[in-house]
Amino acid sequence: MSEIEALLDRWRAEEQEQPQGWDFSTLDGRMTESDEPWSFDTEVREALAGARRVLDMGTGGGEHLLRFRDLLPADTTATEGWAPNVSVAQQNLAPHSIHVVEYGAPDNDVDSVQMPFPDARFDLVLNRHESYSPHELARVIAPGGMFLTQQVGGDECAELGDWFGERPTLPHVNFVPFRLALDAAGFDVVDGAEHVGVYTFDDVAALLAYLQLVPWETPDDFTVDRYRHQLLELHQRTAAGPVTMTRKRFWLKGVRR
Ligand SMILES: C[S@@+](CC[C@H](N)C(=O)[O-])C[C@H]1O[C@@H](n2cnc3c(N)ncnc32)[C@H](O)[C@@H]1O
Repeated sequence: MSEIEALLDRWRAEEQEQPQGWDFSTLDGRMTESDEPWSFDTEVREALAGARRVLDMGTGGGEHLLRFRDLLPADTTATEGWAPNVSVAQQNLAPHSIHVVEYGAPDNDVDSVQMPFPDARFDLVLNRHESYSPHELARVIAPGGMFLTQQVGGDECAELGDWFGERPTLPHVNFVPFRLALDAAGFDVVDGAEHVGVYTFDDVAALLAYLQLVPWETPDDFTVDRYRHQLLELHQRTAAGPVTMTRKRFWLKGVRR
């Protein structure tokens, strides 16, 4: 087998349907991410200390929420908007008496769907890497309640566009517009920051393993065979070594006026 065929075989072995849940362990040891200069988990812990009616938005399979299982109040709810993960989240969270409700705010029109909760229902809403409607949050969070979010910058990984062709980005998903929108909806933004860092993959195979988990980041027709020329070029350009991409994160803490 030629060296190129062997490489393609190795890359094809990374291809899979997007798994359910939200678990990046297939990348353990093959991808590193630069740390942002804040700890969202620490912020979550501190916020949970005083909270009695908590919502976790976009819980995935509940993996992140369960890190805080010892701190969650009896009245904890989660939403999940991606249908395949709703039942995964229900299974994982039911043993902890956490009710999972199907809801997601479409990225391009976050106000188009009402949150399935009455006014002033929560005193803390957590949101890690999930879209949201500031107006709906202002409705379901009681005055004095808190909204805590960490977001992925909508224009990160621009390198993917250079390598594989134009792809949709969400440039408005960024720190300043999100801070302003929260303020306009009725929140005092009391803390937050943004950070530009880097993802480092051991090689093209590790990059491919990552892309299986985030299929919206690549063109709809993306496969190893269809994009073999681009992948081989990337492999050569990176001298068969690490592949890097820009990573963007920001976080915001808002208190409902
Ligand atoms: C990026 S995940 C974050 C999950 C969780 N909050 C966490 O921090 O680990 C945000 C949401 O995207 C959902 N998701 C995953 N794959 C998706 C897909 N192909 N299309 C739409 N949503 C997807 C997840 O189920 C989850 O609710």
